[in-house]
Amino acid sequence: MSQQAQQQPEPIYLKDYQVPAYLIEHTDLRFELDEEETLVRATLKVRRNPDCSRGGRAPLELHGHESLELCRLCIDGEILSERDFIRDDELLRISEVPEAFTLECLTRIHPQLNTALEGLYKSDGMFCTQCEAEGFRRITFYPDRPDVMSVFRTTVEADRKRYPVLLSNGNPVDSGEKDEGRHFVTWEDPFPKPAYLFALVAGDLEVLEDTYTTASGRAVKLQIFAESKDLDKLDHAMLSLKNAMRWDEKVYGREYDLDIYMIVAVDFFNMGAMENKGLNIFNTSCVLASPRTTTDAAFQRVEGVVAHEYFHNWSGNRVTCRDWFQLSLKEGFTVFRDSEFSADMNSRTVKRIEDVSMLRTAQFAEDAGPMSHPVRPESFIEISNFYTLTIYEKGAEVVRMLHTLLGAEAFRKGSDIYFERHDGQAVTTDDFVQAMADASGRDLSQFKRWYSQAGTPRVEASDSWDAETGCYRLILRQSCPPTPGQAEKQPFHMPIAYGLLGAGGAELAAGVLELTDAEQTFTFDGLAEKPVPSLLRGFSAPVKLSYPYSDDQLLMLLKHDTDGFNRWDAGQRMAVNLMQLLVEDYRAGKALSLPDALVDSWRALLNDESLDPAMVAHLLRLPSEAYLAELAEVIYVDAIHAVREFLRKSLADALKPEWLATYRRSCSEEPYAPDADACARRSLKNLCLGYLLTTDEDTLLALAEEQFNDADNMTDQQAALSLVVHSGFRDAGRRLLDEFHAQWHHESLVMNQWFALQANDPWPGALERVQGLQEHPLFDERNPNKLRSLVAAFCAQNPVNFHAEDGSGYRYLADWIIKLNQQNPQIAARLLTPLTRWRRYPDAAQARMKAELSRILAESELSKDVYEVVSKSLA
Ligand code: TRP
Ligand code: ZN
Repeated sequence: MSQQAQQQPEPIYLKDYQVPAYLIEHTDLRFELDEEETLVRATLKVRRNPDCSRGGRAPLELHGHESLELCRLCIDGEILSERDFIRDDELLRISEVPEAFTLECLTRIHPQLNTALEGLYKSDGMFCTQCEAEGFRRITFYPDRPDVMSVFRTTVEADRKRYPVLLSNGNPVDSGEKDEGRHFVTWEDPFPKPAYLFALVAGDLEVLEDTYTTASGRAVKLQIFAESKDLDKLDHAMLSLKNAMRWDEKVYGREYDLDIYMIVAVDFFNMGAMENKGLNIFNTSCVLASPRTTTDAAFQRVEGVVAHEYFHNWSGNRVTCRDWFQLSLKEGFTVFRDSEFSADMNSRTVKRIEDVSMLRTAQFAEDAGPMSHPVRPESFIEISNFYTLTIYEKGAEVVRMLHTLLGAEAFRKGSDIYFERHDGQAVTTDDFVQAMADASGRDLSQFKRWYSQAGTPRVEASDSWDAETGCYRLILRQSCPPTPGQAEKQPFHMPIAYGLLGAGGAELAAGVLELTDAEQTFTFDGLAEKPVPSLLRGFSAPVKLSYPYSDDQLLMLLKHDTDGFNRWDAGQRMAVNLMQLLVEDYRAGKALSLPDALVDSWRALLNDESLDPAMVAHLLRLPSEAYLAELAEVIYVDAIHAVREFLRKSLADALKPEWLATYRRSCSEEPYAPDADACARRSLKNLCLGYLLTTDEDTLLALAEEQFNDADNMTDQQAALSLVVHSGFRDAGRRLLDEFHAQWHHESLVMNQWFALQANDPWPGALERVQGLQEHPLFDERNPNKLRSLVAAFCAQNPVNFHAEDGSGYRYLADWIIKLNQQNPQIAARLLTPLTRWRRYPDAAQARMKAELSRILAESELSKDVYEVVSKSLA
């Protein structure tokens, strides 16, 4: 969709929602796939919506992308002439239609030319689809909105040799031969669904098969399709799928509802994966895994994404969204479910630490930026721009708060009511909350502000202690900064999980406080000593909580808090406080120094072999540069980087024997397994190696090279590679990169990592190296995974180089946006994020960033996607 400077795209508003005037009872699709073009025959059984109050004369509105070639349109067998309908670049309108009728539509499309990767397109040699959110309108004319749910029957016809596998949603009901070496398969999906859940795949694919027996004893065929070279990387996804199916039966009492569940791995994909009914399509990066080629983090991601898409079967597919403003209805709930699943499969505390770290850096930054929006947005220009951390991760936190407020039992009851009430419907976040309210008897009207108000709330905690009476008072004050379109905020209803600890570390009280007012005092009587509060345990609300902790109090919490998350957070708070002071020192030109207390406490952590290695690995990781940036008033990129590097090196020097001993102790002879304990051990080991390499000692380089050469798994090999490449051993880094390339050049996903770790190398000259890598034969600017590995890795994960003072990083990104704007608007808009944060940087940087945004805005044919992000950033 293009727009001219004079006619800018208009936002659409939630308040303008109207029920559809027509419903589609049945959809029959026939695809003739070919090398030049594809013909799509759609036969729709249409009838007027009895719930539509706009009367009988409402026109039939079908969405149709401008790239659709309309060949023929018939109503009840009569061909319509040009005068019978109006078509603009988004809609086809037929003003006179009967009460109920059959609409036949023949369109011609060109999947081979589709670089946007929306609708039907080619990924390597195979045809595949991506219809969420509004991709179906690039396949045929249709009411492409989630509240129109239809039963689909799909026939796919193609050359048998090139495309032996022909898939669509549901069950295969017919197949056979056609002339000229062609064949066809017909699929029927008995569950009504919106068009965004439609899928089709045609290709030369291999399959891994398994069977799953549901709790009620039904056998389900499980199939994971991939190119033959990747057949050996499907076992982990299959195991994850079976685990997810079992977990959803146990925790939510829900079974799978079709006889087949299919997953297809494709290499060209804009996002992670897609929950199409019975036929999930996955980015290869979210489904393929093998110990030699895949890191622990990627193993975990595969498990989480496979579960996420499976869980959508009822939180998204059976109960879907009324309109796209309700996107978090399915995404927030499903992310909550997949994170609980991962917590149960691995380590609950570690999963929480990882999720919160991401939320606090990236989602909080989004909430504070120009694209800030509520979990249920009020308006958008392009819905693709709203597949955000706010919709997904903050949305999941909102569901988690409901779980905390209601308790597991009432929450489960609420989810049962939600499903029973709305199975087969397209509903709203209000319907979801209502089910939870009805299950618990609680008034959740104030709670619903979490859906309508944007921004990250602040909670300021203070306290008082009366030694005479043993009365402790905790005072909580909440506020929320203004966000675009929302200057004033009403107080939120938030659960504050807490504990009160005695000086010796004993827990004196624990529970959940409900903060509903702007300021509230909570009183605790009968305490023998003044307690230290452990607040927001498990990160019970997505807020920034402050309390004037002393370092001694934080150390006490770090040692004794029964809440693992808050033990970690106490360590983070200490490190953040220190690093913020050091950033000031650095900017004032003062010498930096490492406090002895920090060295002592880290030494104790390294020496205590009784501690959980997962916990130690997280406690000894300094807060990221991105987190410090998010917390800063003004982001001084170089100062943050210098301080963090200073601390890393000083801690390495001060504790060298301890790092080395812990490294040695964490090495294992056991064969590779991606379970929580083994991952924790590798993570601690590689953390130690990282500190050791900052010391610039040749013997330690030798240790890293040994690990690189001897590793039997990608986690250890890649950690060694990336640590050496990012270290001061520049020659060794280049040598290992070449060796790694020679070993892995045939593995596309492994090479993505090879690109990425060069792109995020903080040493000077990264931009030239990245530009050089764009010429590498394996780089392909049409493949989003490659763009993420090189362009996004440089712009979003290499702050010192991206923010170079000459503005070269900004110019580089803007050039890419201009190039990708037409080719793949979704990816272009996503890559833009770092430039949109210009307000957070010093004045000179702001001016340079804004200049690049203006240069993009001046482009003549901006996609809606890029236009929305750029114009809102400059507003
Ligand atoms: N619904 C998908 C999920 O599981 C998200 C998604 C996949 C998507 N592909 C997309 C969204 C393309 C927009 C465009 O979260
Ligand atoms: Zn999802």
